[in-house]
This record gives sequence, C-alpha cells and structure tokens, in this order.
Amino acid sequence: MINIAIDGPSGSGKSTLAKNLAKKLGIYYLDTGAMYRAVGYAALRAGTDIGDAAQVEKLLGQIDFRIDYINGEQLVFIDGENVTPYIRTPEVSKAASDISAHPCVRIKLVSMQREVAKNYDVVLDGRDIGTYVLPKTPYKFFVTADIEERARRRHFELISSGIEKDCEDVLAEMQSRDDADSNRSLAPLKKADDAMLIDTTYMSIEEVIDAVSSKIMME
Ligand code: DC
Repeated sequence: MINIAIDGPSGSGKSTLAKNLAKKLGIYYLDTGAMYRAVGYAALRAGTDIGDAAQVEKLLGQIDFRIDYINGEQLVFIDGENVTPYIRTPEVSKAASDISAHPCVRIKLVSMQREVAKNYDVVLDGRDIGTYVLPKTPYKFFVTADIEERARRRHFELISSGIEKDCEDVLAEMQSRDDADSNRSLAPLKKADDAMLIDTTYMSIEEVIDAVSSKIMME
C-alpha cells in the first residue's frame, strides 16, 4: 500500500496539498482533522464537559462515529447523521483540539486511521501521522508557513464561508491551538525526523504539489 503522511499546523496548506495530491495519484484522501472535529462537535452538541476525561469516554461509548466517501468526498457521520457541514466553525476547531488531547479519543481514531491505511492507498493529513499513526511509511511531509500567513489564509476561508471574524482574533486562536496541539503529552504536533519539511509561506499550491510529487517519484 502507498501511504502518504502530511502533517502540519492549521493554515499551512496541508489539506489543500493532501486533497490535490490524492486526486493526482488517483488514491484516497483521509482528513484526520475532520475526525477529531466530528467528535468535538458531538461533544458540544451533547453538552459534554470536554475537560472531563470520564465524560468524554462515556460519550465515545455512546456515539456511533463513521467516515464514508460519497462521490469521492470524505464525510463524517455521528449516529448516522452527516455532520460534515457543521465542523468548520471556530467553536468546533477549539473543541476538536481540546478533545484530541484525551488518550481514549486518540486511541479510537488512530485505530480507524490505521485500518484505512492498511486497506487502501491513501494520503492522510493531520498532526501525528508521520510520528505516531504510520511511523514506518517512507512518504512523510511536514508542511508549515509563517503564522501571519496561516492566519490570513484561515481568515479568508472563514470569510468565504460566511463567518465574520477579525484577522487578529484568528491569529490569536491559531497560536493557542498550535501551542495546545504541540504540547499535549500523547502524539503532539511534531515533524518526524525523516519527514521532508516544506515551508509554504511564499509558495503557490502548484509549487507545493510539484515538490511533493517529485520527492515521491524519487522514493
Ligand atoms: O487539521 P484540523 O485543523 O482540521 O484539526 C483539528 C484539530 O484536531 C487540531 O487542532 C488537533 C486535532 N488533530 C489531531 O490531534 N491529530 C490529527 N492527526 C489531526 C487533527
């Protein structure tokens, strides 16, 4: 199986890269952040106290969480309901980051991710794919960009989807999410030693895809 790991902070361009790369190679794309977002969303909706490990574990036992592909697009389902349209708000971003620190959540989602990788050629994007989910894959990339540029991109995405927010607030929230994701004890956001580092601050998406594709051809 070909498993391509793309990690990095939000706004780095990793999802755009992963999606386009999967299309170019004709393989699946697994957005692992969407999985943490769906569980975070389920917790918000159920009124779960995300800081309380016992409540989070109880919720996990109660919900039926699935991913599926419809017309090539990855969708996330909670108890049979497609919750994909609701998981991109700033509230869900925070809930996803907070809930992802709980080992019970990571264990469940990582095992689903490994199952997909075992059965399919797939590009996975996330925070811990190269370091923890698939440490043995030879295809590892760590994508990043200056935080101002990442905040600008995220702000543009929010505005485009009708969510009004100051760019400074987006930057502050991004900084605090980066800190939380990088400092949690289990599988934090981190470049794997053998991952190729790509700084996308001044690169177009085409340049990024070309850099990654040529590296993959060389392996
Ligand atoms: O990539 P994203 O912004 O959609 O991810 C949302 C949150 O999910 C992120 O702040 C941390 C968590 N996450 C994670 O812990 N591990 C992953 N592999 C992917 C996401």
